[in-house]
Amino acid sequence: MRSAWIVLVSATACFGAAPMGWNSWNSFANIVNSQIVQQQARALVSTGMKEAGYEYVVIDEGWWLGKRDAAGNIVVDPKQWPAIQPGQKDGDMSNIAAYIHSLGLKAGIYTDAGRDGCSMYPDSGPKLLNTGSEGHYEQDFLQFSKWGFDYVKVDWCGGAKEGKSGAIQYAQIARAIQNAEKITGRKLYLSICEWGSQNPWYWGPGVGGVESTIWRTGGDIIPPVVETLHDAEHDKRSITAKNVLDSFDAGLHPEAQHTGYYNDLDMMVMGMRGMTDALDRTHLGLWALSSAPLMVGSDLTRLSQATVSLLTNKETIAINKDLYGLQPIKVDEPAPGIQIWVKPMAIAGRRAIGILNRNEAGAQVNINWERLGLKGTPRSIRDVWSGRNLNAADLAFSVPPKDLALMVVDGEDKSSEDYPAHQDMITGIQATRGPTFARLQYVNSSGHAVVVPVKSTSGFVTALNLPPTVEAETGAVGVILPHGTADLLFERQPVEIRKLEVYVW
Ligand code: GLA
Repeated sequence: MRSAWIVLVSATACFGAAPMGWNSWNSFANIVNSQIVQQQARALVSTGMKEAGYEYVVIDEGWWLGKRDAAGNIVVDPKQWPAIQPGQKDGDMSNIAAYIHSLGLKAGIYTDAGRDGCSMYPDSGPKLLNTGSEGHYEQDFLQFSKWGFDYVKVDWCGGAKEGKSGAIQYAQIARAIQNAEKITGRKLYLSICEWGSQNPWYWGPGVGGVESTIWRTGGDIIPPVVETLHDAEHDKRSITAKNVLDSFDAGLHPEAQHTGYYNDLDMMVMGMRGMTDALDRTHLGLWALSSAPLMVGSDLTRLSQATVSLLTNKETIAINKDLYGLQPIKVDEPAPGIQIWVKPMAIAGRRAIGILNRNEAGAQVNINWERLGLKGTPRSIRDVWSGRNLNAADLAFSVPPKDLALMVVDGEDKSSEDYPAHQDMITGIQATRGPTFARLQYVNSSGHAVVVPVKSTSGFVTALNLPPTVEAETGAVGVILPHGTADLLFERQPVEIRKLEVYVW
């Protein structure tokens, strides 16, 4: 008989982890242009980041100055976005998309869900109006796709200004994207940037029927630090541990995150002004434990070798890309500010563990393995930063101030409580110990992914994207149930929900 794990891997391998790549905003704000993007795309390749999995090159705000022609088409500045190859026209965004593709990378672009964009003064240049897509959703998203873009970040400045509903606007956008995809045959990944103002973790999963998406959970990690501008405003900006930790804290909505749907903790700012090696490490480690998008906002041409090797650390990226794509659960806080975060992973008995020291003094920390839902001590403990195996017998971790120890352990899961599904319901669940890891078994023989809206009478709503299973075999996805979840009601879809295995830690 084939093992359930082999089936699981084949069922979900076609499925996207959160995106990885580069975004222009944090280091270039709206001075972004073709030259800068070409340079950064080349650096993504030469640093080895592309090979490590960073694939999207995203042009954020500043590429478009709010002008449309008589037919409503976006007019692009020919000087900012000239021809790159002979035969190309100035002012055509397909030039840069083709350049990015020529390096084996994917191209991303940016707009706003409202009429106006953010146009963040004083980030270089006058405040521009009408840089949003409202009234032009079908036209703009088709245009982005025709230009060759693979990813679109959709901001919310105009939407917020007009008092719109994010759930409604982004559903319309998701549908416009799906229509564009049908016409061009090119996947256009939706990145929702609504900063958590209207709880996008409730409506982001499956919005407008999308099979995969991310939604920002908070404001900007920092205002842009454009070092090349040398103006007083940018010169005084510097990143602190608080910026990084606040974005992590705001990003935790584990019940909303499942394969394909991810909370977006914001771009990463490794190596930028104010960042130290310890803070770089903490930043990447927390984002990886959260299965968050790994979009780097730094100037890639100025990264130190230490930052590059951190960003390309394979074991950290493997934690981020775990097939279940879950967020970590805080299982212990042995002293104020010393926290043990545990991420359940798709391989049975595997956990990624972060020991976060938020304090100004170093700490000695012992882990109580029982709190990780394992029987006894783990079989193996891998220290990710040093790349060494540790011995479970003599484990007291020493964590420097404002730093993060990161490990992957393999052991044996304590047994689960199993709840079979009756029609489209699972009832009588006992998730009474805090956020609870569970594995949902299902069969989806439709041959394609199916989006299943889920709710619970305990006030929990989400949607699950269930990848197709091989023939009639069982597939599984990981979920984290909020404390007190007692039942799950699945909207009827062409899939069979089998049972829920609940792991009470
Ligand atoms: C908002 C977003 C940022 C960036 C800027 C552009 O602040 O949250 O990530 O896109 O707009 O103005």
